[in-house]
Amino acid sequence: MRRHVRILLLGEPKVGKTSLIMSLVGEEFPNEVPARAEEITIPADVTPEKVPTHIVDYSETEQTDEVLRQEIVKANVVCVVYDVTQEETIDKIRTKWIPLVNGGVEKGSKIPIILVGNKSDLRTGSSMENILPIMNQFSEIETCVECSARNLKNISELFYYAQKAVLHPTAPLYDPEDKQLKPLCVRALSRIFSISDQDNDRVLSDAELNCFQKSCFGNPLAPQALEDVKTVVWKNTSDGILDNGLTLNGFLFLNTLFIQRGRHETTWTILRRFGYDDTLELTDDYLYPQLRVPLGCSTELNHLGHQFLQKVFDKYDEDRDHALSPAELKNLFSVFPYMPWGAEAYSSVPTSELNHVSLHAFICQWTLWAYLDVQRCMEYLGYLGYPILTDQESQTTAITVSREKALDLEKGQTQRSVFLCKVIGPRGTGKSAFLQAFLGQSFTKPECCPARPSLYAVNTVQVANQEKYLILFEVDVETEFLKASDAACDVACLMYDFTDPNSFSYCASIYKQHFMNSSIPCVLVCCKADEVEVPQQYGMNPAEFCYKHRLPVPIRHSSLRPTAQIYSKLAWAAMYPHLNGSDMSSTSFWLRVTLGAAMVTVLGFALYRAFARSK
Ligand code: GTP
Ligand code: MG
Repeated sequence: MRRHVRILLLGEPKVGKTSLIMSLVGEEFPNEVPARAEEITIPADVTPEKVPTHIVDYSETEQTDEVLRQEIVKANVVCVVYDVTQEETIDKIRTKWIPLVNGGVEKGSKIPIILVGNKSDLRTGSSMENILPIMNQFSEIETCVECSARNLKNISELFYYAQKAVLHPTAPLYDPEDKQLKPLCVRALSRIFSISDQDNDRVLSDAELNCFQKSCFGNPLAPQALEDVKTVVWKNTSDGILDNGLTLNGFLFLNTLFIQRGRHETTWTILRRFGYDDTLELTDDYLYPQLRVPLGCSTELNHLGHQFLQKVFDKYDEDRDHALSPAELKNLFSVFPYMPWGAEAYSSVPTSELNHVSLHAFICQWTLWAYLDVQRCMEYLGYLGYPILTDQESQTTAITVSREKALDLEKGQTQRSVFLCKVIGPRGTGKSAFLQAFLGQSFTKPECCPARPSLYAVNTVQVANQEKYLILFEVDVETEFLKASDAACDVACLMYDFTDPNSFSYCASIYKQHFMNSSIPCVLVCCKADEVEVPQQYGMNPAEFCYKHRLPVPIRHSSLRPTAQIYSKLAWAAMYPHLNGSDMSSTSFWLRVTLGAAMVTVLGFALYRAFARSK
């Protein structure tokens, strides 16, 4: 919404422009007025819409045509004043003033105009019959009002209408010629309807209408008011009410009615609550609320985010088979301006053969969005109406920003539940198969199908009886490992090929170049372990290399018989980076002793409790 309003008064000489302004400000009719009143600013708190308002006078004798043109460009709304007793001042509205106002701005963005008939104290009848044809001719005329500066009649109303024309403009919402809502407005209201239809039955029930009313206007509708609204819709439309609920057509009809009755502010309140600006686009403030993510911190969905997404999932799982079919998924994303879930998303998460998305896969994808690009994740939550449906300030409450990684390292523990693992190795080693196996899918040979559209694979793993999300990212070493930041991740999985004698030297050089002096834990994985081993062409064998660099011994992996353990080990290494180089099997003696002591304490406590209870 605009932060201020600038009202310009135009019209023939002596119609009473200056007098109107002076009457408003002084609350009495001035017998003597200057040719032109100084620009005045009405402070926000005394205006009905709480927006500072500037009122600008015009005088032909004091201002040149050029200055007039500049004033028109600056104005947000123009009041064209005429004298109700002088017909020629009415004729000039059509022949002079409206063309002048329209000429001052680019085509398409017309300034709203209000016609003001002054000196109503001098005439008994109304000037309406002369005014109506003009109003019909120019759609930019918002309204007309008859007033008297002398009697102070309708003066504050006039300025209120002017303010309203700017703050709640008709033009973006309604086409007065076709007498219907404009397409962009229909699009926005349809999205609002879908979001508010929480059980997805295509009608708004009483409970849903109350929720909607409460989040837009702060209070629920009285039961009688609710019935009255539905009766109006029922009487005036053939399909506005269904099963005692409001259909989309009924909802659109109601909004058309508000606008036709001059209550645009009602529709605008709804639109603004759902994040729309004056051009009916979602504002950046709504889509991208401020969230501070310091360097070294990561972002993940918290329980509020999970809860909300689970609700959304259930809403669109219409056949209740605990999976979203491609059609159901399309419905879910119908409130987005574009489809965010394509081939890439399908191949990043564990999906069934028919591309059905389980709740687990759905949450995995959202976890990936939240981790990789939290702004985008918040944008998506915004499209789904998160802040409105959960009654939260903004999407930021669905996100947890983790503690800095350096602090985690220092404390030797982490609260995080999402970890990024970069899978690095020469081409053809089996990285894609490794990712595919993580999703529980067998790897189809590249020659029979196109490359995986996604370089990511997300799934959950068990680490020390806790469920954690692990994101695998396949690194194309030849193109992506150019700068140091390319190595950044929570754990690096260096992969070599059992059957390729040159593959280990490649891993070793990547390790030395990027990871040897970093705090990122590394795990070596030896692929194609079901085949016959070929000695590696390198100064020392892989096991010696690991021993020398205090790395855990290479883990053998076969995509024909993948095991879940290997992925848990990666997550484990990411969770406990300070234990880097100390695979549990080769944990140093002292470490094992301390971990052992912790076990005894826990066990001791459990025994104590059991003992205390039995007493
Ligand atoms: P310019 O500055 O020359 O463009 O004129 P203006 O439109 O500012 O008109 P102004 O306010 O100077 O008023 C012109 C004459 O109309 C003055 O004599 C006012 O006293 C008189 N007048 C203004 N408003 C009213 C009104 O509501 N009723 C009556 N009876 N006279 C009015
Ligand atoms: Mg004047």
